[in-house]
Amino acid sequence: MQQVKVAGLNPIESADFYYLRHYYFYKMTEKNLNKPNSDIPSQIVMSGIRPTGMVHLGNYFGAIRNYVKMQDAFECYFMVADLHSLTTHPDTKELKSNVRRVLAENIACGLDPEKATFYCQSHIRETGELYLYLNMLAYKGELEKTVTFKDKARQHPENVNAGLLTYPVLQTADIIMHRASYVPVGKDQEQHLEMARNFVVRFNHRYGEIFPEPHAFNYNQELIKVPGLDGTGKMSKSENNMATLYFADEDDMIRKKVMKALTDQGPTEKNAQKPDYIENIFMLMKLVCEEDVISKYEDDFNNCSIRYGDLKKQLAEDMVKFMAPIRQKTNDILANDAYLVEVMEKGAQKAGESAKKTMDLVRNAIGLNYF
Ligand code: TRP
Repeated sequence: MQQVKVAGLNPIESADFYYLRHYYFYKMTEKNLNKPNSDIPSQIVMSGIRPTGMVHLGNYFGAIRNYVKMQDAFECYFMVADLHSLTTHPDTKELKSNVRRVLAENIACGLDPEKATFYCQSHIRETGELYLYLNMLAYKGELEKTVTFKDKARQHPENVNAGLLTYPVLQTADIIMHRASYVPVGKDQEQHLEMARNFVVRFNHRYGEIFPEPHAFNYNQELIKVPGLDGTGKMSKSENNMATLYFADEDDMIRKKVMKALTDQGPTEKNAQKPDYIENIFMLMKLVCEEDVISKYEDDFNNCSIRYGDLKKQLAEDMVKFMAPIRQKTNDILANDAYLVEVMEKGAQKAGESAKKTMDLVRNAIGLNYF
């Protein structure tokens, strides 16, 4: 695999580098250089986190760990997508506590509000305005074809609202509000980013080159998928809460979930291939256990002496060791409301400055500058 060093960062695998190259090429094109607004910023990262549900191990290894790495290398904007949650969760009784929990859990996982701008979507009023302009560039037909829209419409036929239809437009407003190019998101968001690029291209074409095209961006080419404990699929906010390890889980709950993980009698043949559910347990070990522990159990598996009860006990203890400090830190932060308010205010202020600058450019470009 071709590895490329970019500005002293960890090597970024070639698939990611494609986007950087694409972007620099775009920046260098003559068309762009000759435009008055060609000072498109080059290293801005933006992502959103929906405040629905508690943070679990899959979120940590799939997303948050990437954010934590990026905050040292880029100008980063991380946002709690509280407005997006209104499209599917109109009941807001728990919104306030959900937003606080998401903030606290992400900070406990290493996201640093001093390094990154960490803010709430609803605190940036400019987003509503940019969303309005972008809605004029988004066609009903393409919005209706969005996979996430079709899924949500099927799940909630009683509430197929226009906000749900224009969800990708709002997401585009979030991203381009800071003129971000890199968006750390999972596979499920790729279509939204493709739509964001389309809206950006249309905007730039109609009103002038203001926005870079945003691309999905992650350090691991193949994002780490954390498997669930029941042998089916990845860890997610699923029906089966026993298959997902939440940072809010108490130590005994973590132990109980790990001990319930699906195993069998063990292999009967030496050097057998591992069934998927056993492979999954080894994957979980790789996330939190020491090398020598893993290789001991690999050897035991290969010579048919493996005792899954022992393995799971070890995994449970290592999991507790990894997760408990994050839970503790989350609880400390949640108990300190003044700190959370300070984080929100500071985030709103920093994100607000960036938004104001962008909106000046946007209103001028569109021609909404009559005097
Ligand atoms: N749609 C994203 C999700 O479901 C959340 C989100 C909102 C987002 N705005 C964003 C992600 C901007 C990246 C950039 O997870």
